[in-house]
Amino acid sequence: MKIAILNGSPKTGNTAAMANAFAEGAKEAGHEVEILHVGKMKIGGCLACEYCHGKGAGTCVQKDDMEKVMPAYKEADMIVYTSPIYYFGMTAQISAAIQRVYAIGKPAKAKKAALLLSAASPNPFSGAIATYKDMVAFTGMENAGIITASGDENGSAAKMAEIKAFAKAL
Ligand SMILES: Cc1cc2nc3c(=O)[nH]c(=O)nc-3n(C[C@H](O)[C@H](O)[C@H](O)COP(=O)(O)O)c2cc1C
Repeated sequence: MKIAILNGSPKTGNTAAMANAFAEGAKEAGHEVEILHVGKMKIGGCLACEYCHGKGAGTCVQKDDMEKVMPAYKEADMIVYTSPIYYFGMTAQISAAIQRVYAIGKPAKAKKAALLLSAASPNPFSGAIATYKDMVAFTGMENAGIITASGDENGSAAKMAEIKAFAKAL
């Protein structure tokens, strides 16, 4: 499979480590993996201008880093969303990247998705998980799995091994 990992963190930290562990496992299983650090990109929120559904014909009026993400939305067989929790949700950056798929409606080929979340406290994940599950169902993808890391689990050998094993078994 062609797998695109969208990492919503603006820094190279805990979720980047989760993305790397996933990529390592998936590559060992023979998959082609690309990590897109959308948290470090300049991606504006959807303007609801409907240019994409009119004369834009599937292209966005905003010319920004979303142009680096769109090829993944068109070609990936699986999309992995990874984000730190910011105030009980995914980051604004990955949320913008998720919502800008509006230009083409939904990921064109992806049939599978997964979610990797990192947070400081024990259980702030329910909002992000609910959003992810609804979005995945709406766009016709199957949820292959969700892994969270809290506090000391972040960066731990056990959590990295869990993520790697999950990716390897896809
Ligand atoms: C703006 C901001 C908001 C945050 N909100 C939460 C929160 O609501 N709950 C929580 O447990 N951790 C929260 N955190 C902590 C991060 O989720 C946590 O440090 C995470 O591991 C960071 O991942 P990263 O190193 O990939 O950026 C917040 C951090 C920041 C910077």
